[in-house]
Amino acid sequence: MALFRTINSPEPLPPIVGDGVVLRTPQMSDHAAWAAVREASRAFLTPWEPIWPADDLTRGAFRLRMRRYAEDLRTDQAYPFFLFRQEDNALVGGLALANVRRGVAQAGSLGYWVGAPYVRMGYMSAAVRALVPAAFDLLRLHRVEAACIPTNIASIRLLEKSGFRREGYARSYLCINGLWQDHLLYARLRTDPNS
Ligand SMILES: CC(C)(COP(=O)(O)OP(=O)(O)OC[C@H]1O[C@@H](n2cnc3c(N)ncnc32)[C@H](O)[C@@H]1OP(=O)(O)O)[C@@H](O)C(=O)NCCC(=O)NCCS
Repeated sequence: MALFRTINSPEPLPPIVGDGVVLRTPQMSDHAAWAAVREASRAFLTPWEPIWPADDLTRGAFRLRMRRYAEDLRTDQAYPFFLFRQEDNALVGGLALANVRRGVAQAGSLGYWVGAPYVRMGYMSAAVRALVPAAFDLLRLHRVEAACIPTNIASIRLLEKSGFRREGYARSYLCINGLWQDHLLYARLRTDPNS
């Protein structure tokens, strides 16, 4: 894992390198690869995500997404990444530390997705393994949270094998695929043992 930025640095985030994967801040030039993998994965991803706007995959919507990401980074609100397979630089997914709360919380929420052609190849496990230490050491978070729908077996397995502990159950927690859905709540603390 290599990441050399500290919070409030004016430089863009350098890539984080994990086991066979690279996490990099999204760029406008990623649009074609991102839109292709999202379109190919629409049926796989939509049950687990907020409803996609009709124009979501267009270049114009992606440009607005890039502006939002830049603003989130500038204001220390969220840290978005696209996930690339190291051997051929294929864009295989994305993840983000969002809703960063400073002050007495020092917490952020982890979200992630992998394209349908790339599932169960260990890419997201490698990405989370690389990102969590950066969240603690460089972004100075105390707590990384994650939440998933109780039927999302892949997400539960990913979190539990990545050292996240189940802390609770939140009713109608997030509006996913157009429905307010209950979620399992997980977290990993800076002080938890490495897994
Ligand atoms: C959750 C998700 C990101 C996992 O990504 P991934 O790259 O396939 O995960 P990994 O290959 O690193 O696998 C992680 C663990 O989950 C297991 N797993 C993955 N998919 C699984 C499935 N469909 N059923 C059962 N276990 C599964 C893997 O076997 C692995 O466990 P293991 O090491 O004990 O074998 C991916 O399934 C996804 O994008 N799902 C749709 C979007 C989503 O659910 N987002 C999260 C919302 S909370």
